Amino acid sequence: MEIRKLSVDDYDKVYELWMSCRNMGFNNIDDSREGIAKFLKRNPETSFAAVEDGRIIGVILAGNDGRRRYIYHMSVAEDHRRQGIGSQLVDKCLEALEKEGIAKVALLVFNRNEAGNAFWESQGFTERTDITYRNKALTEIIRIDT
Ligand SMILES: CC(C)(COP(=O)(O)OP(=O)(O)OC[C@H]1O[C@@H](n2cnc3c(N)ncnc32)[C@H](O)[C@@H]1OP(=O)(O)O)[C@@H](O)C(=O)NCCC(=O)NCCS
Repeated sequence: MEIRKLSVDDYDKVYELWMSCRNMGFNNIDDSREGIAKFLKRNPETSFAAVEDGRIIGVILAGNDGRRRYIYHMSVAEDHRRQGIGSQLVDKCLEALEKEGIAKVALLVFNRNEAGNAFWESQGFTERTDITYRNKALTEIIRIDT
């Protein structure tokens, strides 16, 4: 298994992996090929794929907006879980984000995603119970909840 930078050419395999994961939230704009291409153009150094025999078995998407670092859609293929691949992807990603001189890294996980929350807890990402997450769609957007 090798961990390498994510490329937009990986999109089809990555999308297939994302759709195989339960309790994740995607949408038709940010997670389209164009959306991911735009994200990777702006954040070329901080997203990674775990690859084994040409198959993408893990992926982490991360970037910064100039103030905060964000991680999105951490996924490991079901048949490769609990082997430390998720942890290795997080380490690689944090190492790359470290170079950008920003103080915090944040992410969102559905409350119902017990495995996801247990994973992020194990990685030292503490839960904020004092805030309510709010957002507003600026265009028509279709949610794809898995
Ligand atoms: C969450 C996910 C990325 C973890 O990937 P992984 O490669 O299995 O994680 P690791 O093997 O590095 O696990 C590290 C630690 O996380 C915790 N952990 C991981 N999966 C867990 C689970 N299902 N239940 C409880 N704890 C879990 C454990 O403490 C584990 O250490 P251990 O195996 O020594 O006990 C993977 O389960 C996944 O892709 N899930 C679907 C997508 C998702 O929910 N993503 C997170 C939300 S964005």
